[in-house]
Amino acid sequence: MILLTGGAGYIGLHTAAVLLEAGHEVVLFDNFSNSKPPGVERLQAIAGRPVVCVQGDVRSAQDMDAVFGRYPVDAVIHFAGLKAVAESEQQPLRYYDNNIGGTLVLLQAMTRAGVKRIVFSSSATVYGEPDSSPVAETAALRPANVYGRSKRMAEDILRDLHVAAPDWSIALLRYFNPVGAHPGGLIGEDPNGIPNNLMPFVTQVAVGRRPELQVFGGDYATADGTGVRDYIHVMDLAEGHQAALEWALGDPREVLTANLGSGRGHSVLDLVRAFEQASGRTIPCRIVARRPGDVAACWCDPALARQRLGWTARRTLQDMCRDAWNWQRNNPDGFG
Ligand code: NAD
Ligand code: UFG
Repeated sequence: MILLTGGAGYIGLHTAAVLLEAGHEVVLFDNFSNSKPPGVERLQAIAGRPVVCVQGDVRSAQDMDAVFGRYPVDAVIHFAGLKAVAESEQQPLRYYDNNIGGTLVLLQAMTRAGVKRIVFSSSATVYGEPDSSPVAETAALRPANVYGRSKRMAEDILRDLHVAAPDWSIALLRYFNPVGAHPGGLIGEDPNGIPNNLMPFVTQVAVGRRPELQVFGGDYATADGTGVRDYIHVMDLAEGHQAALEWALGDPREVLTANLGSGRGHSVLDLVRAFEQASGRTIPCRIVARRPGDVAACWCDPALARQRLGWTARRTLQDMCRDAWNWQRNNPDGFG
């Protein structure tokens, strides 16, 4: 059985759908601080069977011991954490408490339970402003905010653990920009409040929840002046987790650090155009000042994940826009 902490969140639900489809048994564990129970009901509809979901907090040793005591867990995928960059700067202690404190409590509970396989959600944010793109795993780590530093620290903790406990198998996955939704339109990204990220903002403009998209900066040194990122379809990302999980279940007893991205860069305007084509809607855009902390361009070299995990992103920007639109159109208010 695979334990997915933060399993009711955006990436957790999509990964659970892929794992269930592949025949794995999963248990979701979430405190619902940034997700809603109807997401889990939708997952059950996709899977066509009940899915165990435990409400609890990764920072609680009692909650974690109860899960490991009750379910025969073979491996953990650790998604639970807070992820809003600006909020992390305003509330550093809350972010370190959740992202570092939660990771420590989980790892201690895994140690007590004798579970030694973990796939960890890291982020491209650990690179900060890269010297150049594509970014390989060997690039310097210069996270520029509290959120990014919490991910780098958690990676360090896992590497240190492996030095002391070399029989662990640990995958550190650095995601680039996950977007899109399950093709069935039952699950997708449902951010609280005003979306920080580009794709959910665009989809909310498309359904009339927001009047226009503000494009943060039109004077970057990129082909059209807008920021360039490596967008990855959340289903490709979910399949990347499946590949990493199967690697860990083989007990390689090493730490593997891998980028998960498409290896392609797309500008803000590329994404808006692709979305307009996929949806048939016009997205009113206005170029405004750059957003502090944003980099001009960042996309990854995904070669290592292909070599070591046999995984590669297959879906196009058009697929991402079509599925994001399908989700938003069917669920204008998200999970409600
Ligand atoms: P999400 O907020 O949708 O999912 C995270 C889930 O964790 C939520 O359901 C939340 O309720 C839960 N959670 C948070 N703190 C918890 C705690 N203390 N105990 C139990 N549950 C808790 O976010 P997501 O986009 O699915 O991201 C999943 C992971 O991937 C996060 O660790 C995030 O930092 C990382 N990541 C996300 C992105 C992205 O752009 N979405 C990019 C890189 C890395
Ligand atoms: N953008 C806009 N308008 C918006 C929102 C975003 O123009 O309303 C632009 C940004 O300036 C950037 C691009 O769209 O050029 C993508 O921005 P996102 O906020 O969607 O994504 P980021 O690359 O800034 O950051 C995301 C996550 C981080 C994660 C990082 C990993 O928010 O948590 O990807 O690469 F670490």
